[in-house]
Amino acid sequence: MCENNSIDFEAELDTHFGIAHTRWATHGEPSPLNSHPHRSDKNNEFVVIHNGIITNYKELKKYLVSKGYDFESDTDTEVIPKLIKYLYDNRENDYVSFSTLVERVIQQLEGAFALVFKSIHFPGEAVATRRGSPLLIGVRSQYELSTEQIPVKYNCGNSRRDEQEKNLLNRRGSANALHSVHDRLAVEFYFASDASAIIEHTNKVIYLEDDDIAVVVEGKLYVHRIKRTAGEDPVRVIQTLQMELQQIMKGNFKAFMQKEIFEQPESVVNTMRGRICFDSNTVILGGLSDHLKEIKRCRRLIVIGCGTSYHAGVATRQILEELTELPVMVELASDFLDRITPVFRDDVCFFISQSGETADTLMALRYCKQRGALTVGVTNTVGSSICRETDCGVHINAGPEVGVASTKAYTSQFVSLIMFGLMMSEDRLSMQQRRLEIINGLKKLPELIKEVLALDDQIKSIADELHHQRSLLVMGRGYNYATCLEGALKIKEITYMHSEGILAGELKHGPLALIDKHMPVIMVIMRDACYKKCHNALQQVTARQGRPIILCCQDDPEISKMAYKTIELPHTVDCLQGIISVIPLQLISFHLAVLRGYDVDCPRNLAKSVTVE
Ligand code: G6P
Repeated sequence: MCENNSIDFEAELDTHFGIAHTRWATHGEPSPLNSHPHRSDKNNEFVVIHNGIITNYKELKKYLVSKGYDFESDTDTEVIPKLIKYLYDNRENDYVSFSTLVERVIQQLEGAFALVFKSIHFPGEAVATRRGSPLLIGVRSQYELSTEQIPVKYNCGNSRRDEQEKNLLNRRGSANALHSVHDRLAVEFYFASDASAIIEHTNKVIYLEDDDIAVVVEGKLYVHRIKRTAGEDPVRVIQTLQMELQQIMKGNFKAFMQKEIFEQPESVVNTMRGRICFDSNTVILGGLSDHLKEIKRCRRLIVIGCGTSYHAGVATRQILEELTELPVMVELASDFLDRITPVFRDDVCFFISQSGETADTLMALRYCKQRGALTVGVTNTVGSSICRETDCGVHINAGPEVGVASTKAYTSQFVSLIMFGLMMSEDRLSMQQRRLEIINGLKKLPELIKEVLALDDQIKSIADELHHQRSLLVMGRGYNYATCLEGALKIKEITYMHSEGILAGELKHGPLALIDKHMPVIMVIMRDACYKKCHNALQQVTARQGRPIILCCQDDPEISKMAYKTIELPHTVDCLQGIISVIPLQLISFHLAVLRGYDVDCPRNLAKSVTVE
C-alpha cells in the first residue's frame, strides 16, 4: 500500500511477502484510489487483493457503514477488508486464527473471487481463497519437495479448531502441511490467477478448489475447507507445468501478439502432434476416445465460447455438420445463459476457451452439466477450471498465449475442432474422400501459413495506408464469415478503430448503406462454393465507388481487376481456408495498432482472461 500512490520499484524491502493485482475494473474507474490492495483502515490492519466480482457488496457496504466504517474507493472489493476487520474487532475469544476470519468472510460473500489477505495482526502469515475465480499456488524449493500432495483439513470455523490450529502451527513438522524438511525458509509460495505469472519462479503448482482456504504460516502451507462434500478429493496435488519460460518470452518480436502470430506454423503442428496418422488417415484425440460412442449417439452438438473462442466454433460449424451429420449449435456463452436455452441429457456440449477460466463459459458449462449433458472442454490451459470440470476434452497445445488479442489459440482451436470432425467420421465410407482431402490439407498447413507470414511487408504497407481511418469493414461469407468476425474483433480490440465483420449475404439488408469511396472495406473472396456470391457482393461494393482490399487466392485475375488492392493467399481445402485467411487480418490489426501508437499486448479495458460474468 502506498499513501501517496507512488511506488519506488527499486526500493529494498524488508518483507518477504507482498501482494499485488492487475485490476480489470468492474466497479469504479481505473484510478490509483480504486487500485488494489484495498485496506480495512488507515493503519492497514487488513489488506486484500481480489480478482472477481462481489455481487452483494451494496448490502455489505450498507451494513458496514452503519457500523461506522469509512469507505475510500468505489470498488466492490473494499467491503472485504472492512468486513474482516469488523469480524476481528468483534471476535468472541481472545484468539482467532487468520484462516477462521477469512472463512467467516467468504460465508458472507456472493459472486466470484480469488482473494489474498495480509494483516498486521498475523505477521508473516498469508491467507488465500477462491470461489468461481481461478487461484493457484506456485511452490518453489531449492530441494526436492518432500511431499507431493497435501491433505485438506475440514471442520474449520470454531474456536476449538482455532486452539488446535494454534497448537498445530506451533509444532514443526506437522503432517498436513507442505514444507521442506531441510529448511522451511527454502520453500517459497506464490499465489496467482494464472500459471504464466509464476512460471519464471517455479513449474510446481497446486490448483485450489472453490472454497479452499490456503494458509501460509512460518513457511508452511495448509489447506482447509469448511466441510467435506461427498466424492470430493481430500488432497491437493502438486502438479508440474510443462510450460517453459522461453515459451512466454518475447524474443526479437515487438510484442507477444506478433510473436504468437509468427508461431502459428509450429503451434498448429503441436496441436496435431501424435493425433493424426498421415499414413493411415486416422485421427485420435485421446481425451475423447472413451466417450466417442456416446458422442456419436447424441442428438446435437452445442459449441459454446466467448470472443475469439466463439469464432472458432462459427468457423468450424459447417464442416462439423458435414462430417458428424449432427445438428451443430454455436453459442455465445453469455447469450446462451440469458436465454435459459433448453439442454438435454443426450446433448454434447463443447466449451471452447483459451484460458479455460472465462467466467461466462464456465457458468454455461455448469448449466449444461446440471442438465445432464456430456461436457467437453477445448482449452489451452492444462489444469484450468474448464479442464477440470468437463467430462472429457482436448488440449489444443498451442503453448502459452500472452497477448490479450488471441491469435495462435484461434488457429489451434480451429484445427482441434476439425480433428474432432475427422475422428467422428472415420467409419463413414461415403466420407473417406473428403476426409482424405482434409487430412492432406492439414499436413500442408504449416507450409502455407509460412507463405502467408512472408507477406508481412505487403500487409504492413496496407496498414500504413489505413491507420488514420476511423472505421474498417471486413466482409465475406460461408467458411470465411468467421474470418471476418475474427478479423474485425482483432482490429477493434487493439487498434480501437470501429470494425465490423459483415456477412456478405447480408450486405443488401443494411451494411450497403455504409459503402462509399471513403469507407475502407476488406473483402475475403476465396475459391469455394461461395465464390460467385462473393463476386456479386464485390460488384455491389465497387458500383458504389467502394475501394475494396481483397484477400483472394493466388492467380485470380478477375478479382484482382476489381480490387483496390489484393493480398493473394495460397489455396487450401475450403474448410481449412479460414486458418490461412485470418492471418493477414491478425497482421493488419497488429501493424495498425503499432502505427497508431497503442500497446498491442495490453489493450485498454480488456483482459486476457475475463473471470467475471
Ligand atoms: C477475453 C479476451 C478475448 C478472448 C475471450 C475468451 O475477452 O480478451 O481475447 O477471446 O476472453 O477467452 P477464452 O480464454 O475463454 O478463450
